[in-house]
Amino acid sequence: MEIVRTVAELRSWSREQRSMHGAVLGLVPTMGALHAGHAALIRAAAASCSAVAVSIFVNPAQFGPQEDFARYPRSFDADCALIEAEGADLVFAPAVDEMYPAGASTFVEVADLSQRLDGASRPGHFRGVATVVAKLLIAAEPDFGFFGQKDAAQVAVLRCMVADLRFATEIVVCPIVRDTDGLALSSRNAYLSSQERSTALALGRAVRHVESLVAEGERRSGVLRASAREVFAQEPGIRIDYIALVDWATLRPIETAVPGALFAVAAWVGVTRLIDNTVLR
Ligand code: PAJ
Repeated sequence: MEIVRTVAELRSWSREQRSMHGAVLGLVPTMGALHAGHAALIRAAAASCSAVAVSIFVNPAQFGPQEDFARYPRSFDADCALIEAEGADLVFAPAVDEMYPAGASTFVEVADLSQRLDGASRPGHFRGVATVVAKLLIAAEPDFGFFGQKDAAQVAVLRCMVADLRFATEIVVCPIVRDTDGLALSSRNAYLSSQERSTALALGRAVRHVESLVAEGERRSGVLRASAREVFAQEPGIRIDYIALVDWATLRPIETAVPGALFAVAAWVGVTRLIDNTVLR
């Protein structure tokens, strides 16, 4: 497995894979600190593409000034071992000034969507995400880009960006990977104490509770959101950021649960912000 650090190397690898080997290219963007959720994305990419690149880049542009950029977990060697074991061919691990050359002043902003859900509580976050993913797609020119449903609002922003800018990349969305106790895997789970970790289970519980109400026939957004709020109320250590039922494409609130609608939650457990969601059947 090759490890490259520059956009020029990633681009020439990608072009060579395509021209010499007729490869179908997959790209899995990550910020490292990889876990089984990331592994599932890489596995899905390796199963459907003949050449797979994984990027590891903790993107400063998507962190707010008070957020955890400096302390975001970094585990490059273990990440590379996992990526190789899952069958990827190349790791792209650029330095910050490779992705943002001095004086860089060009950003990609998906209007409206970027202000919704996580974008409402993390101003500038989705502008940073859209910008870095656009740069990665321009550099790697993949046929498929693999993303997790775990970050469902991010998926909506990126689908819109790819459609608007006519990228030749298709976005593939992979299911949420959870721990055995139901907690959605996240690199940020590493911040949780054992007490906080058990508090954090309320997110998955709230999502499952809403799924079961929908299965019983409940469709009213107000009722579904109130029932999730009750689940959170049983955990004093948790502070709700949002509980929302939205159209997954527009991220706008909807009043009635329909198949394909997104039910999403975000909450603070201590200083750690966690998210979870379900796409309704
Ligand atoms: P990161 O948080 O490292 O996540 C990389 C990819 O893994 C994302 O598509 C995310 O949705 C997916 N992922 C994370 N946890 C998952 C889980 N439990 N199950 C399934 N997939 C999961 O998301 C980012 O990085 C960044 O915003 C990025 C897209 C790389 C741009 O910087």
